[in-house]
Amino acid sequence: MTDHYAVIGNPVSHSRSPQIHAAFARATGQDLSYEALLAPLDGFAATVREFADRGGRGANVTVPFKQEAYVLATRRSARAQAAGAVNVLVFDGGEIFGDNTDGAGLVIDLRHNLGFTLAGSRILLLGAGGAARGALLPLLEARPAAVTIANRTAAKAQALAREFAARAGTTPLDGCGFATLAGRRFDLVINATAASLAHEAPALPPGLYAPGSLAYDMMYGKGETPFLREARAGGAARTADGLGMLVEQAAESFLIWRGVRPPTAAVLARLRAS
Ligand code: ATR
Repeated sequence: MTDHYAVIGNPVSHSRSPQIHAAFARATGQDLSYEALLAPLDGFAATVREFADRGGRGANVTVPFKQEAYVLATRRSARAQAAGAVNVLVFDGGEIFGDNTDGAGLVIDLRHNLGFTLAGSRILLLGAGGAARGALLPLLEARPAAVTIANRTAAKAQALAREFAARAGTTPLDGCGFATLAGRRFDLVINATAASLAHEAPALPPGLYAPGSLAYDMMYGKGETPFLREARAGGAARTADGLGMLVEQAAESFLIWRGVRPPTAAVLARLRAS
């Protein structure tokens, strides 16, 4: 019997997830269907229930419903709790399990697809919204030398750093505004702001990129984002967009649902080419 899955969002028609999961299913010989479901902005919970009632086994959740999915879940993983957001749901009788694979997807993309060594690296995380929050715990668990959170609104970065202080252990973690970054150097700069959506780059001081450094934008799309363009001009040795994170968070979702991790390299290469 075919098991049914979906990605729920608004908008959702642009989502690559149906294509990615169909490829995963073929590669692993799993019998499943995966559709894109548009939920009304005021009708996320109803859409989830209706999908579960007609036999849905699980769902991915995308913009703008990840916080609502967190609230809807009856049980949540530790990483979902840290992120305060859920991008994977598992329907199990009356229970709804909520997990978050976004941060894990980022770390796997950095390590395995980009060959970046997070342990011992100096990381700058830009932004203090949901995307930054979701990345923090997996990044801290990778034992970097230090993590700095910088945000346009400095107070939000400082608050996020305080909130995660206990989970950082011995790893130095600080929060600040963009201007205060002047004179500092980083091995990895991750753009988790929404600036790319507005076709803008965060207003960063020059000279942030250490030799051999990587600039990573969680966003992806046609062409280079303004952040990555500025990073390349500003001394980043390498740049990467968030397409690999998208594929790896999907693979982690597939693993939760099906108990098998699909190979990702061919899917990522095909998406890059298209
Ligand atoms: P998300 O869930 O995608 O992280 P969010 O919670 O709305 O979205 O957060 C958006 C983040 O992008 C914030 O950190 C925001 O900075 P502020 O807290 O100062 O608003 C940041 N952001 C949005 N547009 C930006 C821009 N043009 N330049 C720099 N930062 C930007």
